Amino acid sequence: MKETILTGIRTNTDMTLGNMLGALYPMVQLANRFSKDHHINIFVPDLHTIIAEIDGDMQKNVIRSIKYYLALGLEMNENIHIYRQSYVPAHSEMTWILNCFTYFGEASRMIQFKEKSEGKGENVNLGILDYPVLMAADILLYSAKYVPVGEDQFQHIEITRDIATRINNRFNTDVFKLPAPTKEQAKFMGLDDGLRIRSLTEPTKKMSKSDPSENSKILLSDNPKDAYKKIMSATTDSLANIDFDMFNQPGISNLLQILAVLTNRPLAEVTSVYAGSSNYGNLKRDTAEVVENMLTEFQAKYNSISDEDVLKVFEAGEKYANDIAGKKLAEVQKLVGLR
Ligand code: TYM
Repeated sequence: MKETILTGIRTNTDMTLGNMLGALYPMVQLANRFSKDHHINIFVPDLHTIIAEIDGDMQKNVIRSIKYYLALGLEMNENIHIYRQSYVPAHSEMTWILNCFTYFGEASRMIQFKEKSEGKGENVNLGILDYPVLMAADILLYSAKYVPVGEDQFQHIEITRDIATRINNRFNTDVFKLPAPTKEQAKFMGLDDGLRIRSLTEPTKKMSKSDPSENSKILLSDNPKDAYKKIMSATTDSLANIDFDMFNQPGISNLLQILAVLTNRPLAEVTSVYAGSSNYGNLKRDTAEVVENMLTEFQAKYNSISDEDVLKVFEAGEKYANDIAGKKLAEVQKLVGLR
């Protein structure tokens, strides 16, 4: 049986270089490499998107996020399945069943729950708490082994494994296939660890679309020349010695990381080119150039894709997804006694 590689990105009116390098880019690379003998599931988690205030026109955003994959060079074939989560009702149904095997304690310990509920007191919507369980359903319905995501989502892969193991043990079955452990996921993406692209102005923080500082983030819609300038003015340090050290030199390490991913080279190889140099300008210029060129090419391709091109791929993808997810749901319904 073919293995499945699966990922999703919440829709927004824009995305950051972090989303691109943490998830879009590796998924396209893996899809192009493995789609001959793997299923590649790329879906739009629209149900996940509504846990927060909707940013712009959701329908336009849904189309935009699929255009991103196509603009990055995703080569379509019959093993690539593109679908919208809410068009496959088994996701919601499976989430309810998984909820009944998930503890409040473990859900409330998720870092993203803590971050997203901070300062909201008791007025935190339940979707924010339940979001990793819906993500577990997204993965388990398709028995996905590899889930290319950024490091901030690794905890959700771990909870998926925990819930699946609990149900398998409880019913003494192997109904759920576990996604690979996160270390293995990173390795599959060609990384030592999970990828976390940092803010350009405060490199101890993750690059995030919600950061009010424009210079902290590169948006995929940024003018490539502005993106160049943002990299050139990125916060570094005064150690005057290039090294990959996220703890003492997070700004420099972030640039090395961005350059390595965008040039498809191992981090150690890129680091060795600049290591020991006191001249931060060269590294900044090289990174800024690569980002500028990538955005120029990406945006031109993006603008050449029509909405119709995207709407067409949903039709076949949703038929496939409903078939696979429906079968897995039926199996689990039977197991827990609902059928
Ligand atoms: P989301 O929409 O918050 O983020 C989308 C993807 O972008 C990655 N990412 C980053 N990677 C590196 N550095 C950063 N600064 C950075 N910022 C964002 C995220 O890790 C993610 O891979 N719950 C998921 C969506 C989802 C999903 C799934 C993913 C729902 N169901 C099933 C995989 C499988 C989310 O909200 O990601």
